[in-house]
Amino acid sequence: MDDLRDKYLSAIAEARDEATLEALRLQAVGKKGEISLKMRELGKMTPEERQVAGPALNALKGEVGAALAAKKAALADAALEERLRAEWLDVTLPARPRRQGTIHPVSQVTEEVTAIFADMGFAVAEGPQIETDWYNFDALNIPGHHPARAEMDTFYTHRAEGDDRPPHVLRTHTSPVQIRYMEQHGAPCRIIAPGRVYRADYDQTHTPMFHQVEGLAIDRDISMANLKWVLEEFFSAYFGAKVKTRFRASHFPFTEPSAEVDIQCSFEGGTVKVGEGDDWLEVLGSGMVHPKVLEAGGIDPAKWQGFAFGMGIDRIAMLKYGIPDLRAFFESDLRWLRHYGFAALDVPAVHSGV
Ligand code: PHE
Repeated sequence: MDDLRDKYLSAIAEARDEATLEALRLQAVGKKGEISLKMRELGKMTPEERQVAGPALNALKGEVGAALAAKKAALADAALEERLRAEWLDVTLPARPRRQGTIHPVSQVTEEVTAIFADMGFAVAEGPQIETDWYNFDALNIPGHHPARAEMDTFYTHRAEGDDRPPHVLRTHTSPVQIRYMEQHGAPCRIIAPGRVYRADYDQTHTPMFHQVEGLAIDRDISMANLKWVLEEFFSAYFGAKVKTRFRASHFPFTEPSAEVDIQCSFEGGTVKVGEGDDWLEVLGSGMVHPKVLEAGGIDPAKWQGFAFGMGIDRIAMLKYGIPDLRAFFESDLRWLRHYGFAALDVPAVHSGV
């Protein structure tokens, strides 16, 4: 009996997990366990023998049972301790620094321009960047032989032989959106159309992809005077100071008369300042929408007239934020983006002063 006690108590003390403990329980007090078998033998004993062996066996069974229960609880406690130790976490540690992205100057300026024109009642329209040559040229009164087609350094999409779809181009300006908008909404209308345009050109002030914003206002009696007011209002809000404009007679096939518009500036020490000085900087093309263009858009030129303009977004971004090289806009250099980019919360509004 003492041997049995020593054997099980020391085995229980050494058990390292619940499976071992369960095996020991079966081995000792299970149906065919060593102690259970011994208890069954009580029946064959003489009453005298039983009087000694019975209580001793019961005590042994109780002792082993208690040791099993105590060890089981100890193992569970140890497991919990281990888990608490392993899953420990210092919530007071400072977070790992995470880089924040910035808003690209082109996006920022597009938002600024949109906010200012929205305040003057202009809605925003968009069109596809891959256009048919009809929308990009013909509908804008630029027929096939017109020199403007060659001047624009157009990217044509490839056409397999026998493909009878109309030729497509990467739009060379945002003016095709004028036609699309007129077709869909008719007159009167007042919209701007910001977006990407493409021309095969590359130097400090030209990239093959750049951004324009088109403007279009059509009503019964819109005139060049309205155009001039809208543009001066825009530039003053955009640059945050009164900006004089200069209209120079020009030529575009889709406007008549046409004017290129310069804004007042000074060049001092290699930096351009808008709104002061006696120099001029060209920023956009404009004019009264040509009757043929109104017709192409399904609008009767005997009843309606309006102005249109096209302005370089990248150009006015460079001017406002002192960015010298256009090409850097599209090189995705993180150092440049961090320097010239805007915080996500600098939301432009007409009166926010940004
Ligand atoms: N589409 C012209 C360009 O890209 C600009 C323009 C737009 C001129 C509208 C007049 C009217 O140069």
